[in-house]
Amino acid sequence: MEIIRDVTAMQSRVTALRQQGRQIGFVPTMGYLHEGHLSLCRAARIENHILAVSIFVNPAQFDRQEDLENYPVDLERDLVKAEAEGTDLVFVPEQKTVYPPGYATFVEVESLSGRWEGAYRPGHFRGVTTVVMKLFHIVKPHRTYFGQKDYQQARIVHQMVKDLDMDVEVIVLPTVRESDGLALSSRNVNLTAEERRQAPMLYRALCGVADRVKSGEQDARALVEEMHRVIQEGTSATIDYVALCDPESLESLEKVEGPAVALLAVRFSKARLIDNLLMNTH
Ligand code: PAJ
Repeated sequence: MEIIRDVTAMQSRVTALRQQGRQIGFVPTMGYLHEGHLSLCRAARIENHILAVSIFVNPAQFDRQEDLENYPVDLERDLVKAEAEGTDLVFVPEQKTVYPPGYATFVEVESLSGRWEGAYRPGHFRGVTTVVMKLFHIVKPHRTYFGQKDYQQARIVHQMVKDLDMDVEVIVLPTVRESDGLALSSRNVNLTAEERRQAPMLYRALCGVADRVKSGEQDARALVEEMHRVIQEGTSATIDYVALCDPESLESLEKVEGPAVALLAVRFSKARLIDNLLMNTH
C-alpha cells in the first residue's frame, strides 16, 4: 500500500495507472474507519483493479469549530484497516495542501444543498461538494463509492456529477448498522453510555414508520409525528429534523404514494447523529 500526501504525486501515479488500462475505484473518507467505510472499500476492491482511499478531515464542511475539534482521528489504525482491505493507494493530504493560502473556488449544488442537513449546517454541502470535486480531480477514479448513511450527501454528489458531466460512476451502498440497529458512525464514540443505549431508537423510529407505510398509511404528517414521539419518548436527544421526503428532490411529502425516504437528525450531548430509511410502499 502506498501512502501519498502530495497532490501532484497522486495525480501522476493515477495517470500512469490509467494509461496502463487500470480501473480505479475510490472511497473518500474523513478517517476513523469503521465497517461502514470498509464495506465501501470491499465493493470497490472487487469491482476495480486499483483501490484508492482518501483520509482527510475536511474543514470546509464543518460549520462549527467545536465539531471539527471533536472529530475523532487515528491515522495509524486507519492505515492498518485500509491495508487489510487490500487498498493500493491512500491519499492523506494536509489541510494546507488541499486549501493553500489564497484558495477561492467552491462548488455548490443549488436547492438540494439548502434542505435538511444544509439548513442546520450552513455551508456544509458546499464544503462537501468542493472537496469531493477536488478529490475526483486528484484521484481520477472510474468509480466512486458512497454510503446511503449520508443519503442527502450521496444524492447531492450524484447531482453534481450529472450536472457537471463528470466522467465517474457514483455507487451508493447500504448503511451498515450495529446489531441493535444503530448506524455506524465515527461520531458514535462521542455518545455517553446512556446515550449509546438510547441511540437505537432512531432506527426503531424509522422502521416503525416503514412498517406503517407498508401497511398502507399515507398521511406523511401522522407518520412524521409518530417518529417524533418515538424519539422524544425513547431518548434524551434534541431533534433537529424528522422528515418524509421525495427521494430525488428531498422535498417534504404530504402523502406517501410512491417512493419516499425518511430522514432524521438529532443532537445528543456531544454527538449529532443522522440516519435515514427508504420506504417501500408495497
Ligand atoms: P465519512 O463520514 O468519513 O464517510 C465516508 C463514506 O462512508 C461516506 O460515503 C459515508 O456515507 C460512508 N459511511 C459512513 N457511515 C456509514 C455506514 N454506517 N454505512 C455505510 N456507509 C457509511 O462522508 C464523508 O466522510 C465526507 O463528507 C466525505 C464524502 C469524505 C467528504 O469530505
